[in-house]
Formats: sequence, C-alpha cells, structure tokens
Amino acid sequence: MYFSLGKVALITLLAGLANAAPKGHADQKKLLSWDEAYSKAEALVSKMSLEDKVGMATGSGWGLDNCVGNTYAGNSTDFPSLCLQDGPLGIRFADNATAGPAAITTAATFDRDLMLKRAHYLGKESYGKGVNFQLGPCLDIYRGPYAGRAWEAFGEDPYLQGVAGALTVKGIQSEGVIATAKHFILNNQELNRHTSSSNVDDRTLREVYLWPYARVVEEGVGSVMCSYNRVNHTYACENEYTINTILKGELGFRGAVQTDWFAHMETVQSAKAGVDIEMPASIISPCLTRVPGAHWGPNLTQAVKDGKVSEDRVTNMATRIAAAWYKMGQDKDFPETTLRSFNRSEAPTVVVMDDHAKIVREVGAAAVVLLENDDNILPLNEEKLSKIALIGSDAGPNPDGLNSCADQGCDNGTLAMGWGSGAVDYPYIVTPKEGIEKQAGGSIDITYSYDDWDLVKAANVASDADVAIVFSTSDSGEEYIVVDGNVGDRNNLSLWNNGDELIKAVADANQNTVVVIHSVGPVLMPWIDHPNIKAVVWPGLPGQETGNSLADVLFGKVNPSGRLPYTIAKKEGDYNVKPSNESDVNYIEKLEVGYKHFDANNIEPLYEFGYGLSYTSFKYSDLKVKTTKKEDALVKATVTVNNDGDVDGAEVVQAYIGFPESAGEPPKLLRGFEKVFIKKGKKSKVSFTFGKTELSIWDQEWTVPSGEYKLYIGASSRDIRQTATFSL
Ligand SMILES: *[C@@H]1O[C@H](CO)[C@@H](O)[C@H](O)[C@H]1NC(C)=O
Ligand SMILES: *[C@@H]1O[C@H](CO)[C@@H](O)[C@H](O)[C@H]1NC(C)=O
Ligand SMILES: *[C@@H]1O[C@H](CO)[C@@H](O)[C@H](O)[C@H]1NC(C)=O
Ligand SMILES: *[C@@H]1O[C@H](CO)[C@@H](O)[C@H](O)[C@H]1NC(C)=O
Ligand SMILES: *[C@@H]1O[C@H](CO)[C@@H](O)[C@H](O)[C@H]1NC(C)=O
Ligand SMILES: *[C@@H]1O[C@H](CO)[C@@H](O)[C@H](O)[C@H]1NC(C)=O
Ligand SMILES: *[C@@H]1O[C@H](CO)[C@@H](O)[C@H](O)[C@H]1NC(C)=O
Ligand SMILES: *[C@@H]1O[C@H](CO)[C@@H](O)[C@H](O)[C@H]1NC(C)=O
Repeated sequence: MYFSLGKVALITLLAGLANAAPKGHADQKKLLSWDEAYSKAEALVSKMSLEDKVGMATGSGWGLDNCVGNTYAGNSTDFPSLCLQDGPLGIRFADNATAGPAAITTAATFDRDLMLKRAHYLGKESYGKGVNFQLGPCLDIYRGPYAGRAWEAFGEDPYLQGVAGALTVKGIQSEGVIATAKHFILNNQELNRHTSSSNVDDRTLREVYLWPYARVVEEGVGSVMCSYNRVNHTYACENEYTINTILKGELGFRGAVQTDWFAHMETVQSAKAGVDIEMPASIISPCLTRVPGAHWGPNLTQAVKDGKVSEDRVTNMATRIAAAWYKMGQDKDFPETTLRSFNRSEAPTVVVMDDHAKIVREVGAAAVVLLENDDNILPLNEEKLSKIALIGSDAGPNPDGLNSCADQGCDNGTLAMGWGSGAVDYPYIVTPKEGIEKQAGGSIDITYSYDDWDLVKAANVASDADVAIVFSTSDSGEEYIVVDGNVGDRNNLSLWNNGDELIKAVADANQNTVVVIHSVGPVLMPWIDHPNIKAVVWPGLPGQETGNSLADVLFGKVNPSGRLPYTIAKKEGDYNVKPSNESDVNYIEKLEVGYKHFDANNIEPLYEFGYGLSYTSFKYSDLKVKTTKKEDALVKATVTVNNDGDVDGAEVVQAYIGFPESAGEPPKLLRGFEKVFIKKGKKSKVSFTFGKTELSIWDQEWTVPSGEYKLYIGASSRDIRQTATFSL
C-alpha cells in the first residue's frame, strides 16, 4: 500500500513535468555518406578492445533495459548502449506517441508525398523518445492473403513495396533514426515460422522478394533484420548466401544486420554468414530462464580466441554499427531514451505527438478504397438525410477499454491495426461513430446497434433509417498471440464476429445499405450482389484517426482516391498460396504472386490490384512513348488525364510493363504510378521514366531483354486506358 501510493505520487509528479519532445535534427543537417561514416567508425573502433566490440554486437537482454532491444555498452567510454524499438507503424510500448496507419493502408494511398510525410513523423517520434533503431519498415511481400503479418508491409507488388519502403527509410533516417528493413527474407507466413524452410529459385528471389531490399539499400538503409525462417534449409540468420553474397555483396549493403528477436541460435555460423547484432540476447544475465542467454557476448569473445571467428569479422560488426550511428548523426546530442517499456515508470514523460494526427487523418482518408458506389449514394448528402443507422461493433470503441488487449491481440470494437509486435498503444481513438457524429451535423438523427449477433435489433435499427451503414472486420497478427483460434495467420478469409450475417440482415432491412470493412487484407463477400448494398467502403487499418478519415470520405470532404495494394478474389480457391504446414514451403508459384497469378491464369478477381473508385471520373488520352540510350531513362512516356466529372479529385495513374514474350514474365508488371490531383474540368500531363531497374529481369544478372514491349497505362491493373509498344 505504502509503496504503491509512493509510486503513483512519483508518476504524477513526473507527468506534470512533461518535456517537450527533442526535435529531429535532420532538417538542419545532411546525413553523412557511408564513406564519411565509415572513416569515423573505423577510427573509433580501432581503439576498442575485443570485448567492447563484442558488446556492441550483443544485446543486453529482453526486459532488462527500457527498449525491446539494447546493444551493450561494454566498458568503452566512447560508445553508448543503443536502443532498438518496434515497430513499423509507431513506437511499441510507448505512451504519448502517435498510433498511425499501418503500412498496408499507407500503400493504398499510392501517394509518394504522404508516404514520405508519414515516415518523417515516425522518425521524429522515435528520435524524440531516444530510439536509435526503429524496427521498420517491414517489406514482407503479400504472397498470399492468409499471411498474418502482411498488414505490416506494403502489399503484393515488389515495385509498390520498393517505392513505399525507400520513402519510409528516407523519412525516418533524415530525422536521425536508423531504419531497419525486415524480415530478411522469405518470411511470408506465421505458421511454423521458426522451423520451416522457404525454398525459392534465384530469379523469383531477386525479382519479387529482394526487389524492395534493393531499393532501401539504394536509399542508404542503416539496418536489416534477418528473419526466423530457414531459406533453402539454412536459417536466414546463418545464411551466407543471402546475407554475405546477396545483401552485402550484390546489393552493397553497408549497415548492420541484426537478428530477429531470439532468431539467433548459435555463435559461429551467424558471425561468418554476416550477422552483426544479436538481439535481444542477454549479455548481463545469461541465466534467465525465459532467455537462453547470449550466443555472442563472452561466447563470441571465446570463439575469436579459439580461432573460430576472426577478430576482423568482429571489428567489421562494430564498424558497421558505428557507421550507421555516425551516418544518422547520432553522435551529436542524441536524446536520452525515455521509453517506459517493461514498466520503467521512472522515465520522464515525453510527448512526441505534435500535430502528427493531421497526417494520420490525411493518410487514412487518402487510403480509403471505394469499391462500389451505386446510384452515387456517396458522398452522403446532409441536406437530404434525416436518419443514419450505424450497425456493428466495428463502429464503436473496444467495450473492454482502449488498449485493453496487450499488443492489440483481440478484435473488440473498431479495428485500426492488426496484432503483435507491430502494434502500438493508442493515445486515443476516434471511432467511426464519433467521426460520423461530428460531421453529420445536428440535424441528422443517428441510431446504433453494436451487437454483431443481435440480427433482430440490427434489422430494426436499419429499417427506418435513410441510410444504414454496417461495419465489419477481419483481423490477423503475429503468432505469439492467438485470437479466436487464429495463430497469427488467418484461418479463413471471411469476416469476423458474424459479419456476413449482420450485413445480410441490414441489407434485407434497408435499401440504402453502405458496407464498411476494416480488414488486414482481402475478404470474401458472399453478399456483394445484394441489390440493397449500394456502396462498399474499404478503409484498411487507419490508426487513431480512423473515424475522422472515414467521415471525411463519407461526407465528401475528401474525394476517395485509395487503390487496392492486393487482389480481392471472388472465391477462396482462386488464390494460389496458402500457409503451408510442411517443413518445406516451396515458392512454386514463382513470379506469379498476386495479380500476376490472376492475369497469367485468366482468373477474374472481384476487385483487382490497383482498383478503386472516385466521386469524379477521369479520361486518359494522348499516350506518347520514346526510347533513349540513357541507362536510367531507357523509355519515357507521357499521358494526358482529364477530370471530366463534377468534382475535384485525385487519380492514381498506373504504368504496367508487358515484357517481350521471350522474357518469361507474367503479362503485366507495375513499374510506375503517379497520384495526381486534378480540378474538375481540368487536365494534367503525367510522365513516366523507365530505366534499367524497371526494365530488367534476372537472368544470372540483371538484364534488359531485347524485343517488343507493351506499355499499359490505366486506372488499375485491369482497367487499362492507353497502350503503346516500344522495342529495346
Ligand atoms: C568490463 O570490465 C570489467 C572489469 O575490468 C570486466 O570484468 C568485464 O568482463 C568487462 N566487460 C566486458 C563486456 O568487456
Ligand atoms: C501521457 O500518457 C499517459 C498514459 O497514457 C497519459 O495518462 C498522459 O495524460 C499523457 N500525457 C500527456 C501530456 O499527454
Ligand atoms: C535455393 O535452391 C535453389 C535450387 O537448388 C537454388 O537455385 C537457389 O540459388 C537457392 N537459393 C537460395 C536463396 O539459397
Ligand atoms: C556459451 O558457451 C558455453 C561454453 O561452451 C556453452 O555451455 C553455452 O551453451 C554457450 N551459450 C550459448 C547461449 O550459446
Ligand atoms: C507491465 O506490468 C503489467 C502489470 O504487472 C504486466 O501485465 C505487463 O505485462 C508489464 N508490461 C511489460 C511490457 O512488461
Ligand atoms: C475482447 O477480446 C477478447 C479476446 O479475443 C475476448 O475474449 C473478449 O470476449 C472480447 N470482449 C468483448 C467485450 O467482446
Ligand atoms: C473465419 O474466422 C473468423 C475469425 O476466427 C470466425 O469468426 C469466422 O466464423 C470464420 N468463418 C468461417 C466461415 O469459418
Ligand atoms: C500442422 O501440422 C501439425 C502436425 O500434424 C498439426 O498439429 C497442426 O494442427 C497443423 N496446423 C495447421 C494450421 O494446419
């Protein structure tokens, strides 16, 4: 009693002294080049003892410090312990920090500007809390729709994933925080992730899974995390071929490779393969029961003394870590770490949210994919409406309380992120109910039914409203939490919490039914042909401002311009990849991932990759193409896009390449996109440049195949508006 009172008093006192967040320094300072960073790092590390270098490469243990991982400072007076913290969409285990949109939702904006703005605030917040390494972006390709963690990354297409990943790295690092691209590599399902082997041929590896890593390495990413799974039977964190030969050799990665948490299983082979940091390890308390101590720490020192690992390799580990630290300018005035993970309540309160909620709201609205809009039922016209019904638990708050489920491991109330280490605590959430109430104005009556199982009440509430908006969800996450029997990966592609029945009951009762689905990925829609379902709205996982973003689109403040970053199939069997329960997970679909499978096999999806409606319409004309001899601009194209509808709006102009037949590629590959805002009645000229990167295939090396190419310009992967051919 006495102690707990004392603690409360202390926390209150500290909260009262809330500090303003230290500002990211990036805007004042250019990052160092790798060469500059390496010369400083080499000078520093050359003075270190073997023990100190080993300390830098080894974590100090899970739960023993205030971050999910900390490097050990050793006895060196020159080099601090560095803080590593999840995750891709915010700061895990943090208060007073923003809980923004998931990567999959950010991808749906197809908006480079917003991708970068989001990355800047992510970097600023991590910097403000004293986080040296942010554990993101996640670049796991959405190989199949069941993958539990796919919402943490940017979808099924490597080009989109590469653009979004590189912009995310750019924004985070320019704020002085080291970004960590993960999970390297072929970590595309949760099932058996610690034991199974992902087996893939060289070409598929390069063209699909490695592609986004190549883009973030070009952007200067400071760290890459090796994954839990095996690759061709060798653990990803012991794999000389993927780490040394490909990542550090072929791609020229100069930062530090860190292990995923507890993915490190021995001392010598990982060091030889090119791992630079063991996480979270436990250099201080090697005998904790939960944590198997450190495979490095004193054991790595011994391995060097025994001649099993060269000291040069350990020097290289420390140099890479120090180089990333110098490159991001962390040697100068880096803020003290003030996270309170693991209940370290003694840290001062630091509020880093600033006005980032505005960006969250903007990304959330820009990511809304409008799938259907019959009779132009949307945007809702406030003048003509007197009653709106809101139905489904996804419209309201978590009845058990905000953040009542650790790492968001439940599907209670509105869904705005998946679960696992990639989830964060919400500082608050604006539910769809609150967002809609705020924008509906006083004259509209709003009625509710939250109970997903009470179909009678749902139908009653829906029946006398002008418009019935029915909400449902589908969730997934990381395998260490099981939600409704889903061990991370999704058991099925159906809606949760009785969603299909609820939607049918509402649609039977109201002829102006609008369906809103918050989902980690595609779902089956057995009700899609119901004549009373006039609109289907797809906001993804928007984070804390979810209700405001949604209402912005429903009431027409924002004209929807989100596009699907994955394919929604008509039926489950149309997808070609399910999590495999075999010890060998063979990537036999090769290049046919996502829409490429649907295109190659003439399967019509329900909604294709790149699809999304607008409140206006766009006309494409005048495609012009020319070829040059410049390697970074082999082909240039322009197209004119005209907003010929009644309202201003943004269009996502997409460019797909059809390779010469002899190249053996799927029919079309996304190789460019531009989001352009065009006022009604106006037009805009959109340009694309395709260089060696965009036009190469992997054939022992990256080569541009000769022959006749097709260029498809369109509003989605199947809504092609202009076509041209060119020869290389
Ligand atoms: C730090 O120095 C102390 C005292 O010299 C020594 O016992 C300890 O092993 C050193 N720790 C590391 C990680 O080198
Ligand atoms: C910081 O977060 C704590 C915990 O959520 C909350 O109680 C407090 O009000 C926040 N402080 C500020 C200044 O926002
Ligand atoms: C996996 O094995 C295949 C077939 O032996 C080989 O072609 C490929 O290079 C290997 N890939 C990796 C990443 O080890
Ligand atoms: C460290 O080395 C000791 C002695 O060889 C061994 O017993 C222990 O299992 C090793 N620890 C780890 C975590 O590898
Ligand atoms: C913090 O303490 C609470 C209550 O003891 C516990 O449930 C929770 O797991 C702790 N959190 C961490 C991250 O250790
Ligand atoms: C919240 O989620 C948990 C875990 O899935 C579940 O057991 C609980 O019943 C849910 N609470 C409500 C009010 O739905
Ligand atoms: C699909 O999984 C969800 C979540 O576990 C469950 O609520 C639903 O009943 C399942 N649907 C089908 C058709 O199996
Ligand atoms: C995978 O196989 C194991 C062993 O046969 C079985 O216990 C488990 O239920 C299976 N899991 C899935 C998701 O199929």
